[in-house]
Parts: sequence; C-alpha cells; structure tokens
Amino acid sequence: MSKQGADTLPFVRPDVRAMSGYVPGEQPKGDRIIKLNTNENPYPPSPRALQAMTDAASDALRLYPDPMAGDLCERAAQLYGLEPDQVLAGNGSDEILMMILRACVGAGDRVVYPVPTYSLYETLVSICGGVVENVPFGDDFVLPVDALAALRGRVTFVCNPNAPSGTVTQLETLRALAPRLDGLLVVDEAYGDFGSVCATELIAEFPNVVVVRSFSKSFSLAGLRVGLGFGRAAVMRELLKVKDSYNLNRASIAAATAALEDIDWMRANVEKIRLTRERLRGALADLGYSSLPSETNFVLARRHGENQRAVYDALRQRGILVRYFATPELSDALRITVGTDEEIDALLAALKDICG
Ligand SMILES: Cc1ncc(COP(=O)(O)O)c(C=O)c1O
Repeated sequence: MSKQGADTLPFVRPDVRAMSGYVPGEQPKGDRIIKLNTNENPYPPSPRALQAMTDAASDALRLYPDPMAGDLCERAAQLYGLEPDQVLAGNGSDEILMMILRACVGAGDRVVYPVPTYSLYETLVSICGGVVENVPFGDDFVLPVDALAALRGRVTFVCNPNAPSGTVTQLETLRALAPRLDGLLVVDEAYGDFGSVCATELIAEFPNVVVVRSFSKSFSLAGLRVGLGFGRAAVMRELLKVKDSYNLNRASIAAATAALEDIDWMRANVEKIRLTRERLRGALADLGYSSLPSETNFVLARRHGENQRAVYDALRQRGILVRYFATPELSDALRITVGTDEEIDALLAALKDICG
C-alpha cells in the first residue's frame, strides 16, 4: 500500500487518528553508550532469576503459561502481606495501567493527575476515549491534594515517587486523599523500592486504592516485562476481565517469581544506587545544578531558566545519553538515571567539561 496520510484511513477511529502516540525513551544500538536516559538499573538481575529463565526454556514451552501467573502472585502476596486474589500480574506495569483504564474509563470519563508526571498516562487515557484533567505541581512538587480531589476523576493517578521529579508523597497524604475521591486512586510505585513509601497498606483501609509496581527498575528486569497490581479482590476481578488471556509468558513468570525469592539481591543493588544517587546530587550542586531530594533511581537536575538542550546534545556527542524534555516546564532540566559509579564519574567529567 502506498504511503497515506492518516486522514485517508477512515477505518481507524477518528480519536486514534488524532492521537500522536507515545514515544518511548531512546534505546540505542551498541554498548558503547553510557545509557542514563530510561531509568534502567545498571546492575544485573538476580542470578536466580536468570537460572529460572534458562530452566523455563524447555519442552514445556509447547504449553500455554498459567493465565493467572499464580506462582508469581502467591509469592508477591506473601511478600506484601496480601492475599493472592489481591494481586494481578501484567506484561510490565504499563499493562496493569492499561487494564485499569480499560476497566474503569470509557468515552468522556475524566482521569485526573498532577503534572509533570509519567507521560504514558495521557496516551492510555486517549486510547480509552477518556478525558485528561491535569493539575500542575508547584516547583516543590508537593501533591496538590485539594485540586485533585475537586476534579472528581473516575481514576486519579499519583505516581509515587513521581517521575520525572523523583519526589515522594508521604503515606499520610495518600491516606487523606483516598476517601475524598469518588473514583479509583492508582498509586504508581514503579520506583517504590528506591524510596520509603509503600501504599499497599491502604488497600485494607480503602476499597478504591490500587497500587502498581514494576520489575523493570529495582529488580533490573526491564527487558522481561513484568509488573504487579495490588488491590481489593473485587477490584482485581474486574481488571482480570479486560486482561489479555495469556499476558505473561512462562519464562517471565518463572524469572519474576525467582527474583522475588531473591529479594536481598534487589535490595543490595538499590542500596548501591541510593549511595551513588546522593553522590551525584552533591556533585551536580557543585556544577550549578539544583535537584530536589530523589527517592528514585534518577535525579532531575535543573538550572532554572537555562534551556538544557545544548548540554543534552553535547553529552550525547560524548556518548552519554540522558533525558531532555522539550516542554516549557522541564526544558531547563535533565533527568539523569543513576548508573554505576564509573558511569556517573564519566557523566560528571563530561558535564564539567561542557559547563566549564
Ligand atoms: C512512573 C512509571 N510507571 C510505570 C512505568 C512502566 O514500567 P514497566 O516497565 O513495568 O512497564 C514506568 C517506566 O518507565 C514509569 O516511569
């Protein structure tokens, strides 16, 4: 078929034709790049997870996987002090977010969240025909609780810790927000292991709280594509109805379960990253960049009012990839993933060179 403009594709939903589509962070080929742009973990995954994956590559692949990923959900339930029917596994936490919106949001329904935050939310809401209502964070990234509650969303997202700021909202604030909402409160804890707050205890207190976690960051398993959703069993049952039938493959279920059984491995890597993160923040301050305290594996480094595009480009030329956002609120910032100490040393040396 010849190349056609979207307006010549009448069989595609008009709202989908109007969408621009999500642009994932760059995944360059080759291993000579210092990759600090998509918040992956610089340390390897648990050897037990890798072994489980190898073991799964067997004749058993003839058979479909467990559609409920039962072993994984049971292990996760034990770890988080929940029942297995309060846990749902997804093909990355992105899939859990999609299931939530598919189940809760139809044409015209309102989805509320503070910005800037994880930009995929907007795309997922558009796919469902929902309407996004944003509340801007202030410079301090304190959660605008009253404004969020007033908008009465079918779903309210709180990315906690927030991306790209790295800042965290305390549990007490979420505890105060949940009962003020008519709709569902989704706490996206993709970076939760790097911080101090976990909202799963709110599930016992409120029927409208769902917590989402990822294996992509703290567990060093971004390539595996596994995430978890936690909530009341009645909510999980509804989400299951809109799940792809065999959403996780056998190898992913086995490796993610083994990763949970080797939780100390993850925690040791998280501890190394926290130390490097604090060193990075200190050194960035010496270079004239401010950053808010981060409870994630990245730092948002800012030079107020100075567009960072040229610095981003200069780092890129030196083989160092960080994240630049070409939006008015964030163009004076660079989001830097915490890499190994060697990678961060290389970044700091390059920044020193570039910024004089
Ligand atoms: C805030 C946030 N939520 C969810 C995700 C998606 O994670 P996953 O790889 O588990 O789909 C990301 C990935 O970068 C993220 O930053």
